[in-house]
Amino acid sequence: MLRVEDLHVTRGRTKVLQGINLEVEAGEIATLIGANGAGKTTTLMALSGLLPVAGGRLELTTEGETIDIGRTRAVDLVRKGIVHCPEGRQIFGRLSIEENLQLGAYLSDDRARIARSISEIYERFPILGERRTMKAGNLSGGEQMMLAIGRALVAQPKLLLLDEPSLGLAPQITEEIFGALEDLNREQGVTMLIVEQNAMLALELANRAFVIETGRIVLNGTGKELLDDPAVFEAYLGVG
Ligand SMILES: Nc1ncnc2c1ncn2[C@@H]1O[C@H](COP(=O)(O)OP(=O)(O)OP(=O)(O)O)[C@@H](O)[C@H]1O
Ligand SMILES: [Mg+2]
Repeated sequence: MLRVEDLHVTRGRTKVLQGINLEVEAGEIATLIGANGAGKTTTLMALSGLLPVAGGRLELTTEGETIDIGRTRAVDLVRKGIVHCPEGRQIFGRLSIEENLQLGAYLSDDRARIARSISEIYERFPILGERRTMKAGNLSGGEQMMLAIGRALVAQPKLLLLDEPSLGLAPQITEEIFGALEDLNREQGVTMLIVEQNAMLALELANRAFVIETGRIVLNGTGKELLDDPAVFEAYLGVG
């Protein structure tokens, strides 16, 4: 579904990505792990058209059609099914929960479809339904993460890009969020690329995993292979 070959991205004067290669098959959960500043967020931003591609090939294939991500506007990438759940959640704190969810559907004018999607989100995350008129800024961190995921789902992703869904959350809440992602993948076949600092959790969930170091992919394999890899263990799993 996603093929990235030799992706280069420059930010300011820094060559942040210097040859990223990765592939994600339809229906998979893939993860990209690596240290602070390695280029994880930059990779996701390039994939969703939020940063220009300085070099390489990025292809998305859905329903038998292949598009060149680097030459497609961000808004059209959303239409094609690439939906980005950004680092730090980026919900609209002064808007209600329901308004935040409606924003996820801003490219659609099918009101019945939007209402159906939102009620599915409330089934998946009942706390959001109970608080639908509350300002999103008053939600806890975990609830805000559920809302950010919900808002992404309303956009009907085929490939969901998640940037650190566990950031700042208690272990129990993180498990709940990851459980919901796993359900979503199993029940609706949503393909995911998850960026995570919590390498252990991400590798346990992922079918396929990539390790990024200073703008390059240095290792890849199944989640299990990387969990069992001593070098990965030492660098990312040894502490904590
Ligand atoms: N606007 C910018 N101009 C110049 N350099 C930037 C800019 N934004 C980010 N960078 C640099 O790009 C590198 C990669 O940043 P990125 O945010 O992709 O890392 P990350 O892997 O997501 O890190 P983290 O785990 O902290 O979220 C960092 O060295 C960062 O300082
Ligand atoms: Mg980041």
